Amino acid sequence: MNADDETPDVYEEVIELAKRRGYLYPSFEIYGGVSGFWDYGPLGKELKKNIVDLWRDRYVVEEGFREIETTTVGAEQVYEASGHAEGFADYLTKCGGCGGYFRADHLVEDHSDVENADGLPREELAKLLADAEAPCPACGETITGEVTDFNLMFETNIGPGDSRKGYLRPETAQGIFVDFHRLKRFYREKLPFGVTQVGTAYRNEINPRSGVVRLREFNQAELEYFKLPDDELDLEEYRDVDVRLYPVGEQEKEDGEVLETTVGEAVDDGVIASESIAYFVAVSQEWYTEIGVDPSRLRFRQHLPDERAHYASDCWDGETLTSHGWIEVNGVADRGTYDLERHMEHSGEELRVFQEYPEPRVTEETLVDPDMSELGPRFGGDANKVADALEDLAENDPGAFEGDSVEVQVAGETHEIDVETTGFERREVKESGENVLPQVIEPSYGLDRIVYSVIEHSLDHDRPEDSEDERRVLRMSPSVAPYDAAVFPLVSKDGLEPIAEDVESRLRDAGLMVDYDASGAIGRRYRRHDEIGTPFTVTVDYDTKEDDTVTVRDRDSTEQQRVAVDELVEHLEERT
Ligand code: GLY
Repeated sequence: MNADDETPDVYEEVIELAKRRGYLYPSFEIYGGVSGFWDYGPLGKELKKNIVDLWRDRYVVEEGFREIETTTVGAEQVYEASGHAEGFADYLTKCGGCGGYFRADHLVEDHSDVENADGLPREELAKLLADAEAPCPACGETITGEVTDFNLMFETNIGPGDSRKGYLRPETAQGIFVDFHRLKRFYREKLPFGVTQVGTAYRNEINPRSGVVRLREFNQAELEYFKLPDDELDLEEYRDVDVRLYPVGEQEKEDGEVLETTVGEAVDDGVIASESIAYFVAVSQEWYTEIGVDPSRLRFRQHLPDERAHYASDCWDGETLTSHGWIEVNGVADRGTYDLERHMEHSGEELRVFQEYPEPRVTEETLVDPDMSELGPRFGGDANKVADALEDLAENDPGAFEGDSVEVQVAGETHEIDVETTGFERREVKESGENVLPQVIEPSYGLDRIVYSVIEHSLDHDRPEDSEDERRVLRMSPSVAPYDAAVFPLVSKDGLEPIAEDVESRLRDAGLMVDYDASGAIGRRYRRHDEIGTPFTVTVDYDTKEDDTVTVRDRDSTEQQRVAVDELVEHLEERT
């Protein structure tokens, strides 16, 4: 299924296991499959659900950022305003030999020394492609085609005919921005607040070659954190979180390195410019560790200026090291006021938030109300110009009205005017607050890549003491593993099965996710659940009949322990 010739063996091993054990299935497989579409099997769905639950625990429960659900089809205006209709494109080229479509920037990167070619202007890329004389990945003929922009959004028609165009959303974020006029009222116009969304998004990738790593339909978990531009999140709680950072400065050096530091130090040293970005880098680091991403294969890389999305002024990507190299799994971007400003302009809706001052602010306003019965006869057709000049002067230099007369210039001539006839006045104005466009900090997670990273980082091989053979084991964190435990009757006879079924239902009643497995030799069942990543297996054997205890085997150490059936739920709950 995987069309990427360079994919290393580990990827093949993970995908073979994932397909066989029910984690991942190629979509539409019986019809040959289509690149960029994968389904979750029963275990993959459970793993993803557990990962999302822990994401919600962090962001929705602990941080208090409410979750919404918006449509996946968006009206055309949404994506015209967001800039995606115009700017969300990859560079496309076509092979003159076989007619295949390819990403021009990838061909240039693969056949020259150029890196990050997608950040180059189109004309420059076209020249580099011509110089590279890249062979077509499908037929080998030298690519000579032109380079065009290919918009990555899937287009659709809303209703019959083509009068109403829509797009499948390329990010969940826009749904939050276009509901912002209601959300700000939900939050009683009190900044800061955050809104999350978890759901599918779509990108019509040109020629996805990286299996499950580049999908055309994928799952995102996003937070849009709305704050006053000068406010920052309080980093205190997270200052000591250890992170591995790869800032722009290091990437630009020949021997640049990943910095091992804490988020607090990174902010103090100016490596991460904003405390709010640092805050979400720290939350991400803790969450990744909790779900079982290997911390030594995790880093946060700052975007180079030419890689940033059209809306971002700074961005740090969480990246995991996998068989596909370092892959982006999340981004923490400073989107500034870009999106709300654009939607405000395009929709005409007021999206600024009224912020009350702690104390009303008193300001002075100056007014003039010239006596036109004096100015008219004196200046004739220029009287209105003189009145305008008086108004400007009052605004810019109110002190000029302190004396008996003021001077204004109209059409190159200076005129002296009695202050009494100008109607000049100073007034105190009390302002209780102002309308402010919030700044947005966005942590955005690509859930499918995270699920994949968790599986690949869990994969291990060892030879347990109780075995002659090497085993393959998914050392998945019990917090996300699809099953909490598997229950086995040692044999399917001598009355062990009904006891095992009873144990199984006790565990299910306690809310544990349990598999019941009676097929094959016990050793094979252990191996099966080692590969699935089930943290504990529970075997009902002949002793169970005598003393109501079972054998609980730990997946990682393979150590076995006798546990009383009555204490089994507590034993497992403490460990999963
Ligand atoms: N919302 C950020 C992204 O989709 O990449």
